[in-house]
Amino acid sequence: MSKLTLDRILHTQGFGTRKWCRELIATDEVTIDGVVFNDTNTPIETGGLEFTIFGKCWTFREHVYIALNKPANFECSRKPSHHPGVLTILPDQFTRRDVQPVGRLDHDTTGLLLMSDDGAFIHTQSSPKHHVPKIYIATTHDPVTPDLIELLLKGVKLHDEPAPLAAENCRMIDTNHLEIVLKQGKYHQVKRMLAAADNHCTALNRSQIGNLKLDELGLAPGEWCYLNEAQLAQLAPPFIKRI
Ligand code: URA
Repeated sequence: MSKLTLDRILHTQGFGTRKWCRELIATDEVTIDGVVFNDTNTPIETGGLEFTIFGKCWTFREHVYIALNKPANFECSRKPSHHPGVLTILPDQFTRRDVQPVGRLDHDTTGLLLMSDDGAFIHTQSSPKHHVPKIYIATTHDPVTPDLIELLLKGVKLHDEPAPLAAENCRMIDTNHLEIVLKQGKYHQVKRMLAAADNHCTALNRSQIGNLKLDELGLAPGEWCYLNEAQLAQLAPPFIKRI
């Protein structure tokens, strides 16, 4: 880890400009170990540093890795047009430290969304070469049939895609629900695959990325958490072979 002055630390953590952070410190709003800290000259160790601002406790994090249970009617785009952006769900300082969604879910898709300010992590996780399997639960308009499952596994031709796209795995949950595993992340892929198979997706939830399961994070819609190292390791191979 490294040593930084407190105003720089607060700035790196997204609490505002250096000037604003110095003001917070000068007005005794920042404590470390329960004691007001207003020295902005001495570099302090950032590793494991905990501090409070306006009475709320924060831990220094070089980068943040976040899992959000995305509710419906939020957009993943940086410049949302019809619905609020997912970043509005998180504390403001995450926007200031450039936290971004890892890939995108449609505004009406719910479930597991990763967010981070670590460019290398975002790049690896979104890279088609990384092949992180993603599991979705789709609600279908028409009943799920063995033929539908077979077609999705065999591959369907989508407009603008040179070759048919196939599900990595797919199974019926009940009459109008199926679980589908995809390794690609094409635009509206699940919805378009279901439409190409003559059905229609009426609701979509992402339940798992790699081996990281939304269920096990215990997040209600709209809730988020930091991911720890063990949870991050679940996003790297080896992945589950079957569902
Ligand atoms: N496939 C879709 O159709 N929409 C999503 O949001 C994700 C995958």
